[in-house]
Amino acid sequence: MNTIPERIAKQVAWVQKRPGFNRAQNILEVGAGAFTTLAELAQRYPDKQFSGVDHELRPPALALAEQAPGNLQILRHDVRNLSLFSAEQFDFVYSAAVLEHIKELPEHLAEVYRILRPGGRYCFSTAPLWSSSQGHHCDHNAADCPIPHYAHLFKTRAQLGDFLIAERGKNPEQSAQILRRVYDRKDLSRLSRTQVRQIIENSAFEIESWKEGGDKNCTKALIRAVEDNNVYGLDLADLKISSIVGSLLKISDKHEQPSIWQTWLGRLLPSRKND
Ligand SMILES: C[S@@+](CC[C@H](N)C(=O)[O-])C[C@H]1O[C@@H](n2cnc3c(N)ncnc32)[C@H](O)[C@@H]1O
Repeated sequence: MNTIPERIAKQVAWVQKRPGFNRAQNILEVGAGAFTTLAELAQRYPDKQFSGVDHELRPPALALAEQAPGNLQILRHDVRNLSLFSAEQFDFVYSAAVLEHIKELPEHLAEVYRILRPGGRYCFSTAPLWSSSQGHHCDHNAADCPIPHYAHLFKTRAQLGDFLIAERGKNPEQSAQILRRVYDRKDLSRLSRTQVRQIIENSAFEIESWKEGGDKNCTKALIRAVEDNNVYGLDLADLKISSIVGSLLKISDKHEQPSIWQTWLGRLLPSRKND
């Protein structure tokens, strides 16, 4: 029997538990990476159609594409523009660890909204957010990560460059290279948790569920360090949150006029957004 890596098994289980997955027929993963999760799902659900897009197809994805079953499509495309798909083509779209890479989040959400049928969902997980301890994404999972927790938020670019030379033994070229990865790479959104929330609230989607995960590296001393030199003027509450898992629902028209009954009920019941 073929066993799959634990990380993939966990991601498959995560997708299976998302609202709307079971009944969906046409499913899309955006930013599918190695496409392993999608391929596993395609194998387990031969009656569903699976598509995946990523702007970079690496060798494992290319190898998978060559022997993909009939219900699996592997595509190279930028997910900020999903023009290769038609309107209302999918019942269910998901992404894992992708939103934090998309600066043009409003455009991406509008595109996913367009290709979902009414009643369809976009389920996502995003981490680490820019406003969290490892949001700089520079070898953030490595034991020898050169950037201390939150330092990209409480040091300016110049201060971080000097720190890498003085405290981390980097030479000026190595320091400059790390700074380019933190501040110049184009596939990093550098959006705080509050900004992500605001962009999603302003999209056409209805937020069906929203769960934030704490930042295990957050200490009072580090919050104070950001408070003392809050380079991006962040809401300090954002520092405590590293991840978001959400489900977004496409209802027919989020902005349609409420009926007289809805208006009347709305006066009696507290608004969901303020829950
Ligand atoms: C951190 S990886 C996550 C991969 C996969 N979802 C997983 O969980 O293993 C982010 C993925 O998003 C893709 N990506 C980032 N920006 C993208 C864009 N604008 N268009 C398409 N793919 C993008 C990257 O190529 C990468 O494969």
